[in-house]
Amino acid sequence: MTTTEPQIEIEVHLAANGGATMAREVRLGLSTDPKELAPKYFYDERGWQLFERITELPEYYPTRAERAILADRSAEILAAAGEPGTLVELGSGSAAKTRHLLSAMRDAGCLDTYVPVDISEEITHETAECLVEEYPGLAIRGLVCDFEHDLERIPDGGGGRLVAFLGGTIGNLYPDARREFLARLAALLGPEDRILLGTDLVKEPARLEAAYNDSSGVTAEFNKNVLRVLNRKLGGDFDPDAFEHVARYDAGEARMDIRLRSLADQTVRLDGLELEIEFAAGEEMRTEISSKFTRERLEAVYEEAGLTLAGWFTDQAEDYALSLAAPG
Ligand code: SAH
Ligand code: AVI
Repeated sequence: MTTTEPQIEIEVHLAANGGATMAREVRLGLSTDPKELAPKYFYDERGWQLFERITELPEYYPTRAERAILADRSAEILAAAGEPGTLVELGSGSAAKTRHLLSAMRDAGCLDTYVPVDISEEITHETAECLVEEYPGLAIRGLVCDFEHDLERIPDGGGGRLVAFLGGTIGNLYPDARREFLARLAALLGPEDRILLGTDLVKEPARLEAAYNDSSGVTAEFNKNVLRVLNRKLGGDFDPDAFEHVARYDAGEARMDIRLRSLADQTVRLDGLELEIEFAAGEEMRTEISSKFTRERLEAVYEEAGLTLAGWFTDQAEDYALSLAAPG
């Protein structure tokens, strides 16, 4: 545990087996057909900066839409969630939009503890240090971990908990993983606890594809960043310029399908894995999916996880939804 300020406690659960887990997952992903890498590996320091730039792109509406809902309706959301004392946030990152919820909790007089949960250690520390300055008296009990592995480490909260999972990050999980994740989360909730889930909504494919194929190429750089992460962490020799970014909407699955396409026949070495991988010219490796939802689909997703839809908040254009879910 690292304590930088008295109100900040951040537990790190990556060091012991993080490298081994990554090595195992990458080896497995590169040996499947088609090849695949997990999107959690985008987020080193550079990946984080690129994601922050994505959130400001004219084509990438989800962040703006979610921010608008939180700016307008955080007090209403909190009231519907029973004015909890603890805000847990999965994939918290810089918690930029979360300030709307924290401020509404402060104004309602219920703000006690914030629990950021993220795989990126640097951003979690930086965010915690900013937040204790901005919200005097706030206790921070952060977790640096893979939320798919370490969900059960989330601390109990006095005064009820709101577990926020913003940004549409739930859409980056495959349906089976999502079902298991939400069922595990549901099992952790007390009767007063609520989930606040951000989801991008189904819309015209052209807008979706534009959001993931921005004209300034930032999303392409973000996508290729996973290759740089593999080079650094696993001794790889990927040439990011030998791959191109591909992002298509799969209407059947209602999700964006994001890949890297090899521009030539090539062999890549990963010394850390003692592995050589062949890519054929034109071969695509999936790096992320980003599922899009309707209210009906989300109700079904909640039901199969043992949850019930308890609140629905959208932006004016109905591009994006924040929903509250209750156990049972
Ligand atoms: N919530 C922020 C950030 C979204 S980006 C927003 O709405 O803008 C996705 C975030 O989830 C990143 O901070 C990334 O580091 C984190 N993340 C992705 N996969 C993760 C995992 N498996 N475990 C923990 N954090 C993860
Ligand atoms: C973090 N996640 C919800 C983003 C998304 O839209 O699926 C990541 C992203 N990938 C490309 N652009 C943004």
